[in-house]
Amino acid sequence: MLKKTQFIFIATLCCLFLVLHSCTQQKQPDIAKPADENPNTFTVKGSVREIFINHDEPDFPEAEGKEIFTSTCTMCHTLRYISIQPNFPHKTWEAEVNKMITKFHAPIDSVRAGKIVNYLVTIKGVKQ
Ligand code: HEC
Repeated sequence: MLKKTQFIFIATLCCLFLVLHSCTQQKQPDIAKPADENPNTFTVKGSVREIFINHDEPDFPEAEGKEIFTSTCTMCHTLRYISIQPNFPHKTWEAEVNKMITKFHAPIDSVRAGKIVNYLVTIKGVKQ
């Protein structure tokens, strides 16, 4: 027959074990993976929510300055902002790029800005 103090000691140990065990066994929430069939999925697993939205960036023609253009002009918005524009003369593209720099504080130096304007005029320009 167990003495009362022995029983309390063993019971305390059991409780301690159960508490520690449940702490270490806490399952990490799985991070959801995009479903291959439908990339526009919204998944909730545990406390993690993930939304997958199709990336549908427009293709721009190859020409000098394309790399600078695509890396610089995607900092704040999609390139669709540019692809939906009509063809513009040089001065309009120049004004547009300057607007991004002066009004929206795009960090673009004058050399890069010039190359971007030339690229835009090459692919979406009209004679002025
Ligand atoms: C610092 C952020 C930023 C960068 C970098 C940027 N833009 Fe923008 N752009 C904006 C904002 C803000 C708007 C306005 C969005 C709106 O009105 O909904 C905009 C809108 C536009 C529009 C739509 C017409 C207009 O004037 O509102 C065009 C075209 C455009 N940007 C071209 C460019 C090009 C070309 C580049 C690369 C040289 C560029 N943007 C880089 C912030 C930026």
